This record gives sequence, C-alpha cells and structure tokens, in this order.
Amino acid sequence: MQTNSSLRLCVSAPLRYIILLSVLLLAACAPVSWQQPAWVSAIQRPGVDPFAQNQQLGRGINLGNALEAPQEGAWGVIIYEDYFTAIAAAGFQHVRVPIRWNAHALAAPPYTIDPDFFARIDWVVEQAAANRLLVILDFHHYEEMFTDHPGHKARFLSLWKQIAEHYADAPDSVLFELLNEPHDGLTSSAWNEMVPDVIATIRPSNPTRNLIVGPGNWYNVSQLYTLTLPEADKHLIVSIHYYEPFHFTHQGADWVDGSSAWLGTTWSGTNLEQRNVEGDLGNAAAWGKKNGRPIYLGEFGAYSRADMDSRARYTAFVARTAEELGMSWAYWEFGASFGAYERGTGTWREELLTALVSPK
Ligand code: BGC
Repeated sequence: MQTNSSLRLCVSAPLRYIILLSVLLLAACAPVSWQQPAWVSAIQRPGVDPFAQNQQLGRGINLGNALEAPQEGAWGVIIYEDYFTAIAAAGFQHVRVPIRWNAHALAAPPYTIDPDFFARIDWVVEQAAANRLLVILDFHHYEEMFTDHPGHKARFLSLWKQIAEHYADAPDSVLFELLNEPHDGLTSSAWNEMVPDVIATIRPSNPTRNLIVGPGNWYNVSQLYTLTLPEADKHLIVSIHYYEPFHFTHQGADWVDGSSAWLGTTWSGTNLEQRNVEGDLGNAAAWGKKNGRPIYLGEFGAYSRADMDSRARYTAFVARTAEELGMSWAYWEFGASFGAYERGTGTWREELLTALVSPK
C-alpha cells in the first residue's frame, strides 16, 4: 500500500504539472473570452496605450441600425455571424456597435439590465474576438438623457456600472464609448460635468480600459474646445463625427426635416470641398495634439440617396484625410441606409468598399 501510494505520488506530481501546463496552454489557445478565471483578473493589467490602441483600431465600420433600435430588428437589421467574417476579410480592424442599453433595463432601481440582452452582446463581443476585430461597445440613443438628464443620470450611471462589471475581465480589445452624440438638453457644459462621474463609475472595475468620449452638440468638431476631461486619466480616446457638408451627406434622409430639398447635391472633390474637409479634420487633429489625446472619427458617410460616385469620392477623401492626420475611423454604417454592404445578396458595394479600404 505504502509503496503504491508513494509511487502514485511520485508519478502524479509531474503529471499534475503536465496537466496544469496543458490546461494553461489550452486556456491560452482558446478563443479570447472575458470570462477568465479569477486569478487572471487579480493581475493588474497595464492596459494598452491609447495612442497605440487608436492605431490598432485603424479602419472600422459601424454595425448600425441593429442594437441601437428599440429592439434588434425593428430597424431592419439583425446581426449575423457572417457579417463579422465579411468585415474582417474586407480588411477592417474594428467594429463599433451602437447599443440602446437603456431599452433593455428596468426603469426603476436597481435598473437591472436584462441578462438575455447581455448574452446577446456577449455573443457580439465573441464574434468580434473570433475574427480578430477590436470592438467598441457604444451607448447609443438614450434619448431621455437629451431631454431630462438630471432625471436619468442615476440610471445611466447604474447601467454603466453593470456594463463595466460585466466586461471587467474582457480583453483590452473591447472598448467602451460613454454616450453617443450628447445634444439638446445635455448641453456641452452639462456633459462636461457628467463625464467624470461616468468615468469614475467605470474605473473601479476597468482601471485601464480605453474609453471613448466625444464632445457635446453631436460630437461636432467645433465643440471639441468645450470638452474638458479628467487630466489624470490617460486611457481616453476622443471621438468626433463628421457629416459635412450636411446637405450632401443627409440629402433625402427621412429623419432630417427638409432634407428632400437637398436631393441632387453632389460632392465632386473640388479644391474648396477638399479644403473644407481638411480644415475641419485638421482642427480636430490639432486639438488632439494640443491636449495629448488620440482622435477617433467614429462616424462619417453619405446617405444612399446621394449619387454613388459622389459618395465614393467623399468617403475615400474623408477616410484618407483622417488617416493622414493620424486618426482611426469607422464608416457609418455596415448594412442599412448608408450601407457599404448589401445584406440581401451578402456582397459589398464595391465602390464604397474600395473607397474605404484602398491603400493610403
Ligand atoms: C445616428 C443614426 C443616423 C446617423 C447619421 C447616427 O449617430 O444614430 O440614426 O443615421 O447618425 O445621421
């Protein structure tokens, strides 16, 4: 007995190491997941430098009109697995995912987010990781924040606390975007006051995750000067959105009053048109340099009612200009009314794809 058990000990000790090593190796090779064992989260990750991560974000696309609709599918888009493979294969490096978290949580304390909705977003994060795409979880269309932010602040912060804790152990390739396009009642100054509170809500569980934050008045470049950020927090990337000239990019858009009068507006890339884009994006780049923050152009594009030649020309020019200025970007959007991808046929609109991913 004695001999047997010491023999067993003798053989089992190295075996245990081999098993442990294999488990660790398997864990290392497994698809990236945020459900890591506790000992992983116990190690303080140094985090990724936000300028380096902005480079990694590179070229991206918005999976729009899906999860920021009141319910996924209500605006015609449901996200499928093959979209991620198509996006990665086309050469994009990230997806920005607009999400209406507020439509999937209790209205009253404790404001619990629906676990099924979390599971759906987990699946999106998994699909992005499986295709080596970075993913931005963007809080989008919390409309009540723009009409009554004092009445919704507690709920907004609670939702962020839940999201942050849920993804606390997610890989660094998952970024959070605080709130898409603050506007109206959530003025630039009200937004400035709120930003430190949102960041302070996220930081205990995600001390070094890079967060994306944009200025008031719809992330307009001209509002950057109003944005004040917690100086000590270095893990921030600043976002702007660009849709100028608006009469060109939003012609015929049914959510913009009077836009049918703009139908037929072209963008030929005249000197003046080019200088305007370069000037606006140049101002954003200059602000980033002065304030020591990387800049992310999180939305740009032209609606499908504009002529395709103009759209492609404009898209290519904005994307190349942003790249020359050191910005990452995401096209608005994948497969709906600005869509670069034809969901019905499962093919890219070649003119737009070429405009987006052609070499610098
Ligand atoms: C809005 C979309 C809109 C797009 C272009 C986005 O930020 O969420 O609804 O289509 O901007 O106007």
